[in-house]
Amino acid sequence: MTRADPGKLPTIARRMLAWYDRHRRDLPWRRTRDPYAVWLSEIMLQQTQVATAIPYYERFLRRFPIVRALAKAPIGEVLKLWAGLGYYSRARNLHRAAKIVANDLNGEFPRTVDGLRALPGIGRYTAGAIASIAFGARAAVVDGNVTRVLARLFDLSSDVRERHTQDRIWNLATSLLPARRCGDFNQALMELGATVCTPAATAQCGECPVARWCMARRAGTVADRPVKGGRAKVKHETHVVAAIRRGERYLFVRRPQEGLWGGLWELPSAVASGRSIESALRSLTREAMAARSRAQRFCDFEHVLSHRRIRMIGYEFAAPAGAGRERGGACRWVALRDARALGLSRAMQRVVESLEEHGRQRPRPCRPKLKPP
Ligand code: ADE
Repeated sequence: MTRADPGKLPTIARRMLAWYDRHRRDLPWRRTRDPYAVWLSEIMLQQTQVATAIPYYERFLRRFPIVRALAKAPIGEVLKLWAGLGYYSRARNLHRAAKIVANDLNGEFPRTVDGLRALPGIGRYTAGAIASIAFGARAAVVDGNVTRVLARLFDLSSDVRERHTQDRIWNLATSLLPARRCGDFNQALMELGATVCTPAATAQCGECPVARWCMARRAGTVADRPVKGGRAKVKHETHVVAAIRRGERYLFVRRPQEGLWGGLWELPSAVASGRSIESALRSLTREAMAARSRAQRFCDFEHVLSHRRIRMIGYEFAAPAGAGRERGGACRWVALRDARALGLSRAMQRVVESLEEHGRQRPRPCRPKLKPP
């Protein structure tokens, strides 16, 4: 592993900041230093692309402009606004942290990395981002983009998924920090990774402000950096979904708070992996059981999450009399056009879209014409 040349570090920071001033994208969270807005944006951006996050960020801030508004909201409403973004534990932690800031910290965010890390859902990365961007602290950030930039700049040949390489990258990111404008510098590193120092096939070294100091470029190893060893295994699952219809409405149920898509609404579903679809359906609801002989398959697609590939198979049933009465508040009969407002996962939104399409193809029942008297 090549050693960083300490003499070059201030020059690299200066070049990065000058480049950022000219090339930064105008993103809504870059127009504020409000720690609440910065926090919200950083939580959203952890596992979500910038273009996807923007409308969510804007809606969220419109509905909850200050941390106290978020703290006061019921969790169901927070999840509804988060629906479609994925990784719903982020929304639950956001809500928990908002309550702590509003109720225990007088509405003020901690200004230090350690203070911020004490809040739910805020790890080393998010704490560094908020502390540097909102409060100007000399704190580093390392995410996937920064990892790629630094693994190339310093031509790191060890696996970036390993602990000791991550430690080295955090140290390098810290050693590069300028005396001032640390928030901008951190965003410059992220921005370079997002727009110029992109994965191998698309990297544009000709546009890079620090190409002259890039050790991987000199060694001809840009396409081989970062080194990523054994990928996390992807899990394959099959979920069976029962769309139980009564007139224009369908039975929706709320998922348990914990686990995948926790607290979101869905057409009742069961995991079929390892057992037959028939037995999964049977386990679902009494109504699916009773009506299964008349079931029609309306969708069968694969939904890809970061570590799971889920085959979603949907069946539609006409509900038998009395269906869905036994579940109390966790169950509602809802028209499909109103279902998104409940808060659905992206996978369930796709199921609902298929069901709408299926409904458009279903022959309409003929109304008997009334004879004039
Ligand atoms: N990804 C994570 N944080 C970001 C930020 N502040 N700007 C752009 N992309 C980001």
